[in-house]
Amino acid sequence: MSRENIVLTREERELQLDYAHRAGQSLRDRLGRQPMGCVVTFGCQQNEADSELIRGMFIDMGMGITDDEAKADVLVFNTCAIREHAEMRVFGNVGQTSHYKKDNPDMVICVCGCMPQQPQVAEKIKKSYPYVDIVFGTHALWMFPQLLCQRLSRKKRMFDISGEGRIWDGMPPVRKEGPCAWLSIMYGCNNFCSYCIVPYVRGRERSRHPDVVISELKELVAQGYKDITLLGQNVNSYGLDQEDFPDFAGLLERCNAVEGDFRIRFMTSHPKDATPRLFETMAKCEKVCHCIHLPVQCGSNRVLQEMNRRYTVEHYLELVECARKWMPDLTITSDIIVGFPGETEEECDETIALLEKVRFDSLFTFIYSRREGTRAAAMPDPATRQEKQKWFDKLLAVQNRISREKNADYVGKTVEVLVDGVSDDPNFDLTARTEGFKLVHLKGGTDLIGKTVRAEIERSSTVALFGKVME
Ligand code: SAH
Ligand code: SF4
Ligand code: F3S
Repeated sequence: MSRENIVLTREERELQLDYAHRAGQSLRDRLGRQPMGCVVTFGCQQNEADSELIRGMFIDMGMGITDDEAKADVLVFNTCAIREHAEMRVFGNVGQTSHYKKDNPDMVICVCGCMPQQPQVAEKIKKSYPYVDIVFGTHALWMFPQLLCQRLSRKKRMFDISGEGRIWDGMPPVRKEGPCAWLSIMYGCNNFCSYCIVPYVRGRERSRHPDVVISELKELVAQGYKDITLLGQNVNSYGLDQEDFPDFAGLLERCNAVEGDFRIRFMTSHPKDATPRLFETMAKCEKVCHCIHLPVQCGSNRVLQEMNRRYTVEHYLELVECARKWMPDLTITSDIIVGFPGETEEECDETIALLEKVRFDSLFTFIYSRREGTRAAAMPDPATRQEKQKWFDKLLAVQNRISREKNADYVGKTVEVLVDGVSDDPNFDLTARTEGFKLVHLKGGTDLIGKTVRAEIERSSTVALFGKVME
């Protein structure tokens, strides 16, 4: 597909708007009131961002938006396929919806996102969940109004997992409340890490035009957003698919030049594409947070090679050293997979040794989950689940100690934080984030939400800091 065909055209967008009006009208006629839409999101930030677009489509349809599944007339499950556990959760939730239809037979139930982009999963939903009305994959997201309209008029269940990865510009999202916003700069992934399903369900890498990114960023700043995360499965390869686009560091510079009071973060960075130039740019751009999520996955070179990660432990350590040279206050987080096929306890111990060397601020740790269709799915996997769990617990205990120690360093210090919401801890009022994205529970008035304040840290735990707003 040529570039012109990848970007959604005005005609395609207008056709969907037309479908949206018709779907909304049909629902209103049927219900005799304003219809309500609900999106339940599983998965990563990319999926959260897609759900914001679906909510935008609800608005195009003249619908109201609710978070209460039972009150929805159109209920959408936006799903994740990254691990078996994620898929089981979705099937559990979808299974529960049959009883909603008893109370509200007109309810339209939809399953979209990464799970049904796998044909065998779409087939399973078709066969085993007859009360699901509409199924569509990530590539058909923009066609949701059309699918809904067709379902309402033809009374036929709709399945669409066809298409290729596109770029949707000009679709207005409905964002969550608060001062933080996602801004997708690219879609898809070309890396084919041997364990990972994402390249199969999200298509090839495609970067959005830098002018579109900058104009959306300006809009977000004008709307008052203060903390903007540039999103992509591998932001470090931004622009590489187009000759005349800046690279990611270049894009960061352009974002940094946008006027206003806001900060910029980004995720995710692949170590194979992270460069000294990126760290230098981060250090020099005052709006870019000194904070990076740099998934290492494993501390054994043999396993890294089997994972098709295309870097070594030594290279990773050099990157961390270089990044810290440019930004001594840098916060680094990472992802780890324990129990990749063929991994031994000694190799997992190498990962633990790496954790001790790098001292990540925090970590997302996962036990390997076999994904049908990936290269690793065909690899012999002799270690038992119990063994892997034992290695996992050992690794987590080490990281928890490191996280605890790193957080304890903040006690007694004053830090600048952005207040972003209400705390669920009964002893505190607010939640806030440091520049390094550390969670802080604070005492203070809700009028501070969206403001940047100085906070004194009084206490810390493995996962959070606790303190009070300075006068
Ligand atoms: N694009 C990002 C993140 C993708 S998914 C990146 O490259 O880092 C987020 C994390 O899920 C991955 O970093 C990996 O640690 C984990 N993951 C992916 N596939 C997995 C699998 N099959 N089993 C267990 N964890 C997995
Ligand atoms: Fe998956 Fe690797 Fe792509 Fe990340 S970079 S989404 S882990 S294939
Ligand atoms: Fe899951 Fe799809 Fe994201 S598989 S992690 S929701 S890209």
